[in-house]
Order: sequence, then structure tokens, then C-alpha cells
Amino acid sequence: MAAIFGPRANLVTNATLLALAALALFAAFLIWGVPLMHYNTQVSLTALQPVQFSHQHHVSGLGIDCRYCHSSVEFTPSAGMPPTETCMTCHSQIWTNAPMLARVRQSLAEKKPLRWNRVYTLPDYVYFDHSIHVAKGVGCTECHGPIGDMPLTRRATDLTMRWCLDCHRNPAPRLRPPDKVFDPHWRRTADTPSGAQLLAAYRIHPNTLSDCTVCHR
Ligand code: HEC
Ligand code: HEC
Ligand code: HEC
Ligand code: HEC
Ligand code: HEC
Repeated sequence: MAAIFGPRANLVTNATLLALAALALFAAFLIWGVPLMHYNTQVSLTALQPVQFSHQHHVSGLGIDCRYCHSSVEFTPSAGMPPTETCMTCHSQIWTNAPMLARVRQSLAEKKPLRWNRVYTLPDYVYFDHSIHVAKGVGCTECHGPIGDMPLTRRATDLTMRWCLDCHRNPAPRLRPPDKVFDPHWRRTADTPSGAQLLAAYRIHPNTLSDCTVCHR
């Protein structure tokens, strides 16, 4: 009797099944894997800058305080970027001929500010304010990661709503004493007041901190 299914039929069926399984796996990866990849959330993203400025050299190496360059961070929603004059307080004396600083000198001579490309940005419909976080003991590195050790600034978070809410629902463990907010290398020690103590001292009430109107006004 002539076989309807030849001897190779099993092989073909198996190969087809395998291919289907692989396809399903790949689809699953596209659906669940890709949205979580850093490539997509832009975590670790660095921006191309007019000057290769290094926080590692200036913050950890030279010990310059954040507020020397981001001078409005305590008083306004925006942290602010340093004007060229701030760089020149030092670089008119040191490294005055370094090619790496040519753009800085040019910016001063032409009175055109350096245009830094942003690493952190939120959509316009989200309201954010640096000064309140700084005043309530949320350290810079809590949100910006170990920036004092970065030769090039890279993004430390995905800036999603969930990231904001994770802290707003339970800020206590992530608070620090007022004099440690700008410290890029601070670690909790045995002497640090507990999260609950800090929460009380700063008079923070997490029960209303997740209301939509806090961030969407
Ligand atoms: C308080 C002084 C001071 C200020 C302010 C300052 N720098 Fe520097 N900068 C230095 C010193 C010192 C070095 C040499 C660091 C080294 O080699 O360890 C340096 C090095 C550099 C370099 C060489 C590459 C590197 O990091 O080693 C660049 C580029 C640079 N600075 C850019 C800037 C820019 C842009 C600003 C302003 C936003 C600025 N600096 C503000 C002191 C300063
Ligand atoms: C000597 C000046 C200087 C000091 C001190 C300094 N910064 Fe900066 N900062 C800059 C410059 C210039 C840029 C823009 C280039 C870049 O993104 O690296 C920048 C960028 C940043 C950015 C990225 C902003 C964005 O969205 O693009 C963050 C966050 C930041 N700084 C945080 C800090 C913190 C936190 C400290 C203190 C621990 C600090 N900086 C100290 C000069 C400084
Ligand atoms: C609660 C989280 C949080 C803390 C704490 C925080 N930042 Fe930011 N930072 C952000 C977010 C979010 C943005 C983007 C803001 C936007 O796009 O409106 C940002 C943006 C910046 C920028 C870019 C310029 C600007 O103002 O938008 C700089 C510079 C900066 N931060 C420096 C600092 C410094 C210095 C500190 C500590 C004194 C600090 N940040 C503390 C979340 C934080
Ligand atoms: C690491 C903790 C932490 C993160 C992350 C954080 N916040 Fe906050 N936020 C706080 C604390 C603490 C307060 C102060 C609450 C108070 O005043 O009682 C605050 C206050 C605020 C306020 C002012 C609330 C008011 O009533 O005036 C706004 C607006 C805000 N956060 C927006 C954001 C946004 C947007 C993000 C994300 C991009 C964010 N925060 C991420 C801890 C955080
Ligand atoms: C602590 C700050 C914060 C609070 C509170 C908050 N949001 Fe958001 N929300 C954000 C941020 C940040 C984004 C931008 C997320 C992004 O760009 O991925 C966002 C985005 C959104 C979006 C745009 C769609 C999306 O998911 O990207 C909607 C809709 C939204 N929020 C609704 C709400 C509602 C409703 C509430 C109250 C239950 C709320 N949010 C409370 C910070 C907040």
C-alpha cells in the first residue's frame, strides 16, 4: 500500500514543531523582554556633549560641591546648569590651553552659552521640583545614581511613573540627614537616624504623596 505519509514525514513534522516553538519564544521575548531592556528605558544612556565634562574628576577628584555648578537646586524646581563663567573661575588659570577645553574658551569669547544635551527629561505634563526633595532629605544620588564616579553622565533610572511612586509610597528608607543630601558617597551608618525618625523630623505624610495632582497639575 502506498504510504500517504512517507518516511520523511516525521522529520518534517518535528522540524515544523520546533520552528513554531522557537517562533513563540521569540514573540514572547519581543512582547515582554524588549520593553524591559535598558536600550528601551534609556537607563545608562549618556548624551553626546560639546565638552567631555567629567563629574568623576570634578566631584570625587576635586571635591567640588554640586551647588557650585547647579546653583538653583535648593531654591527652584530646576537644578540649573553652570554658565561658562563658572568653568572659567578655574580654567582661566589651569589647563588654559588644553584642546579639550577649546569649546569652553570659545563659548566665553563669543558669549554663547555651552549647549549641554540633557540626560534626564520628563514629559511636560509631569510636574517635578528639585527644591522640595532636597529640603526633605532626598539625596542627589538617590535619583541620579553615583554621579560623582561617572566620567560621563549616564542615566541611573528609567524615570517612569512607577519609579516616582515607589518612593512616594514609602520614602522613609530613602531619606538622609539634611547635611548629607549633597554628599555623593554617603552611606547609612549605625549613627544615622532611622527612616521613621527622619520621616517625622521632615514632617512627610506619604498618605497624600501619591495623589495624581501632586505630579499632574
Ligand atoms: C574648582 C575648579 C574647577 C572648575 C570650577 C571646573 N574645573 Fe574642569 N578641571 C579642573 C581641574 C583641576 C582639572 C584637572 C583634573 C585632573 O586632571 O585631575 C579639570 C579638568 C577638566 C577637563 C579635562 C578632562 C578631565 O576631566 O580630566 C575638562 C574637559 C574640564 N575640566 C571641563 C570643565 C567644565 C566644562 C567646567 C564647567 C562646567 C569645569 N571644568 C569647571 C578644575 C575645575
Ligand atoms: C564643576 C561643575 C559641576 C559640579 C561640581 C557638578 N556638576 Fe553636574 N553637571 C555639570 C555639567 C557641565 C553638566 C552637563 C554635562 C553632563 O551631563 O555631564 C552636568 C550634568 C549633570 C546632570 C545631568 C543633567 C541632565 O539632565 O542632563 C546631573 C543629574 C548632575 N549634573 C548632577 C550633579 C550632582 C548630583 C553633583 C554633585 C554630586 C554635580 N552634578 C556636580 C557640572 C557640574
Ligand atoms: C527625587 C529625585 C531627584 C533628586 C533627589 C534630584 N534630582 Fe535632579 N533631576 C530629577 C529629575 C526627574 C530630572 C528631570 C527634570 C525635568 O525634566 O523636568 C532632574 C534633572 C536634573 C538636572 C538637569 C537640569 C534640570 O534642572 O532639569 C540637574 C543638573 C540635576 N537634576 C541635578 C541634581 C542635583 C545637583 C541634585 C541634588 C542636590 C538632584 N538633581 C536631586 C530627579 C531628581
Ligand atoms: C527617593 C524618593 C523620591 C523619588 C524617587 C521621587 N520623589 Fe517626589 N518627593 C519625595 C519626598 C520625600 C517629597 C516630600 C514630601 C513632603 O513634602 O512631605 C516629595 C515631594 C514631591 C513633590 C511636591 C509635593 C507637594 O506636595 O508639594 C512633587 C511634585 C514630586 N515629589 C514629584 C516627583 C516626581 C514627578 C518624581 C519622579 C520623576 C518624584 N517626585 C520622585 C520623594 C521622592
Ligand atoms: C510621583 C509623581 C506621580 C504621581 C503621584 C502620578 N504620576 Fe502619572 N506620571 C508620572 C510620570 C513621571 C509620568 C511619565 C512617565 C513616562 O514618561 O514614562 C506619568 C505619566 C502618566 C500618564 C501618561 C501615560 C503613561 O502611563 O505613560 C498618565 C495617564 C498618568 N501618569 C496618570 C496618573 C494618574 C491617574 C495618577 C493618580 C492615580 C498619577 N498619574 C499619579 C508621575 C506621577
